[in-house]
Amino acid sequence: MAASQQTLRAAVFLGLSVDGRIARPDGDLEWLTSRGAAAGDAGFTPFVESVEAVVMGRRTYEAIASDEHWPYLDRPIHVISTSLAADGDPRITVHRSGEAAIDALQRDGYRRVYVDGGETIRWFLASKLVDELTLSHVPVLIGDGPSLFGPLGEDVHLKHVLTAVLDGGMVQTAYRVRGGPTSPAATYGKREVTTRPVPVEEPSLDALALDPDHSGPQRPVSCSSAEPSPGRSAGHVSII
Ligand SMILES: NC(=O)c1ccc[n+]([C@@H]2O[C@H](COP(=O)([O-])OP(=O)(O)OC[C@H]3O[C@@H](n4cnc5c(N)ncnc54)[C@H](OP(=O)(O)O)[C@@H]3O)[C@@H](O)[C@H]2O)c1
Repeated sequence: MAASQQTLRAAVFLGLSVDGRIARPDGDLEWLTSRGAAAGDAGFTPFVESVEAVVMGRRTYEAIASDEHWPYLDRPIHVISTSLAADGDPRITVHRSGEAAIDALQRDGYRRVYVDGGETIRWFLASKLVDELTLSHVPVLIGDGPSLFGPLGEDVHLKHVLTAVLDGGMVQTAYRVRGGPTSPAATYGKREVTTRPVPVEEPSLDALALDPDHSGPQRPVSCSSAEPSPGRSAGHVSII
């Protein structure tokens, strides 16, 4: 299907080290989860509420497969893999290529999906299917491990939307991909965008709603608060 006929849009929500790593070489994520805990839900739950399905790479699936509680609400999980058994896990649908995944998701009427996994995100970026990225940098350099960043074929131009500093020193920045169509739910579902200043105590990172008219750092944006996930603190937020 030609890019102009694509109706599916993908959004990224990822935690990474300051040097761009998304895991250690052995898959360890403690460097991220231990620091991320201070930031609370960090807008993740409203983000998941805003998507209709999740698409991930095989390595990301393998990293979470044994977790008891998946944080994806009831969203259907699609995994891209040339090697996974097609019927090995009833919770997922396996696709043998990125194109096959896109075709199936579009056929099923999905318009906004959460894409996860470094290699997989890069494939979606190179395929011009991503229209927003929320990147949460935790203050550590880990030196090695899979990266979000790598060859893309051509530059992907971004528009900065908002940056917030969360508890624990996590810096969360939202970007839109320039030139791409905007998915209808790009303000994280039910959230209501306002233009009042955000008190530092405001217990939500849903301040990172992607306001298409945001004109720069002098115009803080806030949204209605989301409930933090069970077991997670809400965290504090300062908007830059
Ligand atoms: N920090 C975070 O927020 C975060 C988020 C997600 C994941 N992670 C971590 O990142 C690591 C995984 O990321 P990763 O970049 O190594 O891998 P990944 O993107 O999760 O998975 C890569 C695999 O997915 C399949 N795949 C992806 N795109 C494909 C395509 N277009 N065509 C065919 N197959 C495709 C291939 O599986 P086959 O080899 O089976 O063909 C490929 O080896 C894990 O350690 C995970 O825990 C961290």
